[in-house]
Amino acid sequence: MVDARVLVVLALLQIMCFFFHEVSAAACHASGFIHGNGQNCNGADSADSCCITGKRYPQFRCSPPVSAKTPAILTVNRFENGEDVTRITSCDMRFHHDKEKVVILSSGWMKLDGTNRCNKKIRISAKGRSVLAKVVDECDSVHGCDEEHDFQPPCRNNVLNASPGVWKALKLNESIGELKVTWSDV
Ligand SMILES: *[C@@H]1O[C@H](CO)[C@@H](O)[C@H](O)[C@H]1NC(C)=O
Repeated sequence: MVDARVLVVLALLQIMCFFFHEVSAAACHASGFIHGNGQNCNGADSADSCCITGKRYPQFRCSPPVSAKTPAILTVNRFENGEDVTRITSCDMRFHHDKEKVVILSSGWMKLDGTNRCNKKIRISAKGRSVLAKVVDECDSVHGCDEEHDFQPPCRNNVLNASPGVWKALKLNESIGELKVTWSDV
């Protein structure tokens, strides 16, 4: 005769296994890797961040799930059509002033999770403050290390690449480079 306690333990184990599988299905893993080849890695601006020969860079077709407090890394992007940046943003096909509150999202958050956030606003929160920022482009977390991406690695899958205007509105000093923040759809 099997002890009832053994049955209870077995049932609990089964429930734990079930949740473990659910959680790992929801987790976002790298879908592959790009190998750096050091090609054209001599531009003055990109030399310090471009792909290194022999190094492999993860590719992500997913980002962590979006919630009311989605954890993310806030980084700085200069949008002005100055000598450094001459790129138009793909959602609205135009340049942006640094003082505008605009942001670029990792691919998984841009559209790969089934929500097209182009030109939509998101709320970014940090250190007790929050700001609305317009989504204007994708930070490609799948492709990179080629001419189209300035020979830079694919984006991480949890990045908010925001204008100086966003940093200023959050009263953050952009010279810190990156900061853990949270965001949500509005
Ligand atoms: C931002 O931080 C840098 C380096 O710590 C400092 O030199 C600069 O004065 C700060 N800027 C502002 C506006 O506080």
